[in-house]
Amino acid sequence: MADRAPFSYEGLDRVIHEKARLGMLTSLMAHPRGLAFSDLKQLCALTDGNLSRHLQVLQEAGLVEVTKSYERNRPHTTCRLTRAGRERFLDYLAVLEQLVRDAAKAAGRDAAVLGDLGVVAGWGRFFLKGDFAMQSCLDTQVNALHVGIIMDGNGRWAQHRGWTRLRGHEAGLEAIRRVVEAAPGQGIGTLTLYAFSSDNWRRPPAEVAGLMRLLRFYLNNEVRSLQRNGVRLSVIGRRDRLPDGIAGLIGRAEAATRCGEALHLRIAVDYSGRDAILNAAAQAGAGAALTREDFARLVTGEPGLRDVDLIIRTSGEKRLSDFLLWESAYAELHFTDRMWPDFDAGDLAAALVAFQQRERRFGGLGAPPLAPAPARSRLVPEVAAGAAASIVAI
Ligand code: FPP
Repeated sequence: MADRAPFSYEGLDRVIHEKARLGMLTSLMAHPRGLAFSDLKQLCALTDGNLSRHLQVLQEAGLVEVTKSYERNRPHTTCRLTRAGRERFLDYLAVLEQLVRDAAKAAGRDAAVLGDLGVVAGWGRFFLKGDFAMQSCLDTQVNALHVGIIMDGNGRWAQHRGWTRLRGHEAGLEAIRRVVEAAPGQGIGTLTLYAFSSDNWRRPPAEVAGLMRLLRFYLNNEVRSLQRNGVRLSVIGRRDRLPDGIAGLIGRAEAATRCGEALHLRIAVDYSGRDAILNAAAQAGAGAALTREDFARLVTGEPGLRDVDLIIRTSGEKRLSDFLLWESAYAELHFTDRMWPDFDAGDLAAALVAFQQRERRFGGLGAPPLAPAPARSRLVPEVAAGAAASIVAI
């Protein structure tokens, strides 16, 4: 077996340590809100093809998220580190730090000398703050995804236990609390929950009344907790058919939580996706020449609401049931057999992991193949040693 080069540490993550990918991750770490494809390309001095291929590798490893949209009718690609990406990059830096210490020792410099250079003393912090200005970024979550959930299975869950359907809905409210609490930590910026469709008025009056009681209870009792957790609440759907007083409670809850920045929670009540599109068309008027963005604003009632990235439906049913029809044009779909009252943070994480593994092409062809690889990988030992040498020389 060939001799291992000094400093070719097993712990140096090979996905990250490829020179181009290391540059990409460093740039993305310093820009927690993400970078446009063109900016990342310029920062890393890569060709379109190579950047796409490296992004694909990083996406497959769950380290980077690439989103495609339209801005002024032109395609726009944004690249961001995922939470896992930020964590893995920091782990990588920790190994690099050890490598530098060992390299310094091997070069005969002791810690004090390096300390004078500002390298070893508080090295981790120096590296993060001084060199890459990353520490502050770590606390700023990039909570970007828009996830919609069709919370199905309350009735069956309760009936299996010999309980009333309403007890299933009550347990469903607990699941809402769990998911709202977990969502910001899992990279979700907007969460739309389907609580009551416009077709649910067809249910027996006692069940409808029970659901409305739960909604009233939620609006009366949850606002403090939403405020504490930085959640902004919006209720979408018709308000004119709700029982007396609920529209007012919704308005007050929305006003009280309007400053929440950790999560935008949208609860759909008396909601119909087709009606939202019909209403938007009526507002636009005949013959109006609107962009998709203009029309989206009419459908959603909000400027700049992000399209839905992922729709989750619980209870094994596989249909959209008139939920977010416009907003989910390119949504990935995740169906789970879990009944909604049992759904928890682990189920949400599983759905997001499955989502991260999908290749989202938005009608395009995806990333082109990588340019031919060099005859011999020259990255791990030499770049590691080079990185160590250049850092020690700071
Ligand atoms: C679908 O399950 C669920 C609903 C129609 C209601 C969802 C409501 C909650 C989760 C709690 C209420 C929350 C608020 C904020 C009011 P299903 O009853 O159709 O289940 P099934 O298919 O097993 O019958």
